[in-house]
Amino acid sequence: MCELWTALSRVFTILAAGLLTAAVLTASGSAAAKCADIPIAVVGPMTGDWAYDGEEMRRGAQLAVDDINGKGGVRGCKIALTVLDDQYTPATAIALAKKLAKDGVRFVIGHFNSGSSIPAATIYAKNNTLMVSPASTNPALTEFKLWNVVRTAGRDDVQGTFAGEYMADHFPTQNFAIVSDGTPYGDGLANHARKALRIKGHPEKLATKIKPGQGDFLDLIGKLKSMRIEVLFFAGLADDFGPLVRQTNEAGLKVQFISGDGALVHDLSGKAGPALEGVLVAFSLEDRGNPAAADVVARFRSQGFEPADYTLKSYAAVQVVAKGIEMAGTEAPRTVAASIKSGQPIPTVLGNLTFDAKGDRNQRDVTMYVWKKRGDGTLMLDFQSP
Ligand code: ALA
Repeated sequence: MCELWTALSRVFTILAAGLLTAAVLTASGSAAAKCADIPIAVVGPMTGDWAYDGEEMRRGAQLAVDDINGKGGVRGCKIALTVLDDQYTPATAIALAKKLAKDGVRFVIGHFNSGSSIPAATIYAKNNTLMVSPASTNPALTEFKLWNVVRTAGRDDVQGTFAGEYMADHFPTQNFAIVSDGTPYGDGLANHARKALRIKGHPEKLATKIKPGQGDFLDLIGKLKSMRIEVLFFAGLADDFGPLVRQTNEAGLKVQFISGDGALVHDLSGKAGPALEGVLVAFSLEDRGNPAAADVVARFRSQGFEPADYTLKSYAAVQVVAKGIEMAGTEAPRTVAASIKSGQPIPTVLGNLTFDAKGDRNQRDVTMYVWKKRGDGTLMLDFQSP
């Protein structure tokens, strides 16, 4: 009897210990769940011809995540950043959007090109995921009025209209060409520039398209020559724009080139050569000059990285998500999106941003830059006086 009692009490002890362990595990499990990492993915062209844009996105997002985590995270929880490569390709972007949905990632910084962001946005919308694009400028991205889309980038109707009006005002007697790369970004931007030119009474003489990556522009240059084109607006990316500028110059043709944000990379002279001097670029106001970005810009530079173009817009995109979660008091993406779009100011490296109900910035800043030669002979981007 005594042995039976001893055996039973051992069983009770083991059971009690087991229950206690389970209780502790549950408690610590729920404590961990409360503060589980917040998964955020940055998705853009990390390889291939547009990898420099992906690099800017990755660098910008990573430093923002490090800074936020270093200050204790978001509502006490750390952000876990994943980097994914959509290869600048809509089909890959769609596949990744589906995968992220399956993996339970509810916040995306991306994509880069409008051609990828637009189809991916619908998949994210159906799968409870909020996306903040630092670079996609095609108006359609926010005009679909999806609950889940926000962008820290500007819009092509703003920059295209600005570029078209600039051309009409500054080169009123010229023969204009408008050249698109045939992507949703290029076609949209070209259309807005064309519309502005026509409204000003200066319809373009030539409207045509190139193929991204075609490399050889001799046919187009032949047309520019025969049609006596003097000013060309290019709606596409730097990898095409640079060689077009270079080859036009090598063919002995003098054309005033103007481009939009897509063709803005700080090493464009490597692709365009000396003819880049005097080329104009419409882009949002220089983010690196914003006092709110001074500390972050200094830290990027101390790492040997120049935070040009989309870097700070990517940094800001992470800040927007983090602040959205804080304002919402939850990580539920719909509530976070509603908070971001409520019009409350969100402090970022681009200054205090507010967003409208569609997810566009209320601050619509765009200006014209010009590639100028420095004393040492290298080319740098500078403000163009109005
Ligand atoms: N602004 C470019 C686009 O929207 C990068 O595709």
